[in-house]
Parts: sequence; C-alpha cells; structure tokens
Amino acid sequence: MRALGIDIGGSGIKGAPVDLEKGELTEERLRIPTPDPAGPEEVTGVVGQIVRHFGWTGPIGVTFPGVVLNGITMTAANVDPRWVGADACGLFSAAAGRPVTVLNDADAAGLAEVEIGAAKGEAGVVLMLTFGTGIGSALFVDGRLVPNTELGHLEIRGKDAERRASDSARERHDLSWDEWAERVEEYLRHVEMLFSPSLIVIGGGVSKKSEKFLPKVSVRTRVVPAALRNEAGIVGAAMAAAHL
Ligand code: BGC
Repeated sequence: MRALGIDIGGSGIKGAPVDLEKGELTEERLRIPTPDPAGPEEVTGVVGQIVRHFGWTGPIGVTFPGVVLNGITMTAANVDPRWVGADACGLFSAAAGRPVTVLNDADAAGLAEVEIGAAKGEAGVVLMLTFGTGIGSALFVDGRLVPNTELGHLEIRGKDAERRASDSARERHDLSWDEWAERVEEYLRHVEMLFSPSLIVIGGGVSKKSEKFLPKVSVRTRVVPAALRNEAGIVGAAMAAAHL
C-alpha cells in the first residue's frame, strides 16, 4: 500500500509517495520553499500543489511543527501565529479534494523510526527528539505514540529548552560542536530524569552529523541517531495517514 507524505518545515515543504511496507519513497520527493509569510492560506496552497504534482488520489498525511489536536493546530512556536486555532485538517482536505491526516512533525518522525527505523522492535519507553529550528519530541510506550508531548519547551536554566539546545541555537550563538554537545547533554539528562526512557533517538537535520556531537554526549540512556534522517517526517506522515 502507498500513501502520500507531506512534511511542513520552516524552510521547505516536502512531499513524496511512500511504500508503507518498505517505508521508502517511491518517487523523487518534491520540495517547495516554505512561503513567506507561511500562514494557513499560503501553506495550504503549497500542500494542494504537491498533491496535484503527484496526481494523488490515495491516503495523505501532513506534518505540522506544533500541537495538533483533532486536526486543529493549537500552537505555533516557530511558525506564523495565524496557525493557532486553524482547522489545518479541513483546509488541507479541501485543497487536496480528499481527507487528510494532520499530525505533529516529531510525532510523525517518531512513528517512522519506531516502525522501520532506529527504534524498531523496542519495547518500553522510547523517546524521539528532533533537533532543528526547535526541538520536537515523540514519546512511545511499547510502540504506541503519546502525541503532542512538546518536550522542546521544558524549562532549562530559566529558558525554553529549544532556545538553548536546538540546532538553530547552535547556529545562532555560533557554538562549537563541543559547546553545543554540552547543552544537548544537559537537556537529555533533564528528559531522562523525567521519563527514564530505554532508548532516545536523535533526529532532525543535525542527525546526519551525529558523529560530531553524539560521542561527546554522556547520559545513562542509550542514544542513537535516527535511521531515516530527514525523510522520517514524510514517511511517518504517510504511515499516519494509513494507520491512525
Ligand atoms: C514545536 C513542536 C515541534 C518542534 C519541532 C517546537 O517549537 O512546539 O511542536 O515538534 O518545534 O518542529
């Protein structure tokens, strides 16, 4: 079975059909730069464009970088504030001409890693953390997702954790990999104190460079890079469309 996965990010909106058994893209993905401003209307236009590009008539899943409750986007930490309270599911479904599943971006990436990636077959508490513009989180208990955990907004040293330890914070403050690894370690220690996971999967664009910082991060939990790297969002969105 195939489903179309669309991943909404701060710089690009990416989509591709996914073979759900293999978890692989079946066609070259289409990437359209995120419009500026990136409010509901503008982004919905791009989602419609991607659906038409693939002539898609099957299941469709779309990720969003904020809390998604019953298809409504509830928060917008790093995106246009007009998303707060928007009916993303209704808007995307109208643009696609068929029902669309909408879920949080980190939750989607986590679903893909649990089904076919670095957390496949892992029992107990598993945490996926994505480091990008923000920090996204997906919590799993025996393979079942607890959605919208938003652990990027835990408070560390009086600040939103993602302001200190996201990949964009590394760039913004021009931190060396060693300096950034220290912040990531402090954050992971806080998270493991709260959840005692048996495995932490590190995703987001920076997971491609995990050898630069993961060896410097010392916590008691096993920490591994995501297996699907940046494609986890597209694959997870497609899986959610088929399963949820
Ligand atoms: C948002 C999360 C999102 C994460 C990664 C955070 O700022 O609140 O919902 O998963 O960024 O995009």
